[in-house]
Amino acid sequence: MNEPWITLQRNYDHSIKLLEDPLSEVYILKDGIVRVGFIMIKLKGAFTGYIQTIVINDTYRRKGIGEAAIRYIEELIFKVSPNVFICASSFNTRALKLYQSMGFEIVGILKDYVVKGYDEVFLRKTKGPLNDFKR
Ligand SMILES: CC(C)(COP(=O)(O)OP(=O)(O)OC[C@H]1O[C@@H](n2cnc3c(N)ncnc32)[C@H](O)[C@@H]1OP(=O)(O)O)[C@@H](O)C(=O)NCCC(=O)NCCS
Repeated sequence: MNEPWITLQRNYDHSIKLLEDPLSEVYILKDGIVRVGFIMIKLKGAFTGYIQTIVINDTYRRKGIGEAAIRYIEELIFKVSPNVFICASSFNTRALKLYQSMGFEIVGILKDYVVKGYDEVFLRKTKGPLNDFKR
């Protein structure tokens, strides 16, 4: 287990439960036959187009894989909804910087959402209002 999950006090069992959620879709990121990370999204529910989590293996970080994966998923989401949502812990400055550099805007702060003392930062990238959106 590593950050941000250590600070968030999330363990292996909790992570497995998330992966089993039937409302979530998981995409495995591969370099040849090597799994270098995954990205999990929700296309149903209250906030359609939510990137629930993205993880890149330590040794594959800072090579542009995270950004490429998010861009791929954005295109997928924008086919069905004008909004892409993503969340990051307030202490996860690397993730927050990356998302903002990609055009995500902070739309809310969920105070003490997972653990006391840390907030979850909610971000959105949008193509416009729901009523103007055509699939
Ligand atoms: C957050 C995370 C998914 C980003 O993935 P990544 O593959 O490292 O992301 P990228 O490589 O696309 O971009 C990260 C940075 O590397 C830089 N970068 C991209 N290609 C690069 C290269 N070839 N050489 C050097 N730097 C590079 C990017 O500009 C970016 O810079 P910044 O941090 O100054 O904004 C990854 O760090 C991770 O898995 N973290 C742990 C889990 C986590 O926090 N997940 C998010 C939960 S919300």
